[in-house]
Amino acid sequence: MKLLNLVFHPDLTTSRVNRTWKRMLEESGKVDTSVDMYGRYPDFKIDVEQEQAALLNHNRIIFQFPMYWYSVTPLLKKWLDDVLTYGFAYGSSSNRLEGKDLQVIVSVGGHPRFYSGFDIYATVHELLRPFQLTANLCKMNYMLPLWMFRADEASENTIQENGRRWAELIDDPRRSDAREFLRSLPDGTD
Ligand SMILES: Cc1cc2nc3c(=O)[nH]c(=O)nc-3n(C[C@H](O)[C@H](O)[C@H](O)COP(=O)(O)O)c2cc1C
Repeated sequence: MKLLNLVFHPDLTTSRVNRTWKRMLEESGKVDTSVDMYGRYPDFKIDVEQEQAALLNHNRIIFQFPMYWYSVTPLLKKWLDDVLTYGFAYGSSSNRLEGKDLQVIVSVGGHPRFYSGFDIYATVHELLRPFQLTANLCKMNYMLPLWMFRADEASENTIQENGRRWAELIDDPRRSDAREFLRSLPDGTD
């Protein structure tokens, strides 16, 4: 299994959470390619061929980003628009990403209460539905997303605990099939 971690944080030098997670995932030795995408494309001019080639060269694609305005950071949106083209990612005859895994890892500033799903609050799963639908369109496997709430207040310890957990989970082959994986978990675990 070859893992690609595309990190879409606008400024990793000021990041606490995503910078730490990116480093920890690299140090786990499980990620084959790890990219600071804003560092690669400061002018937002995406090299589509290079990005598509990288996708073809890996089987598990991780999108790591901080939640901004209940959504993705702008370069990630542009990357999706530019890279997942008709005839490459989807279309009647061409699904070059078919069978690959799509993993979202997101840091969320807000408190879990504000993501309860009740009334005016959406859950993180609901907010990430565009990824699930995109995975479906591209015939990719949508993996259980990973996230941490209260990202700005989190202690270094909590950030690292989560980083360790992501490092444990990211290459688990069972997670390619999220439904089967959930069914296989013993009662009382999440
Ligand atoms: C422009 C902007 C928009 C944000 N929007 C949200 C949001 O909609 N929901 C939320 O929970 N946190 C939001 N946050 C907080 C970020 O998610 C949080 O700062 C980030 O996950 C921390 O990760 P980092 O240490 O890697 O920067 C926002 C932050 C910024 C700067």
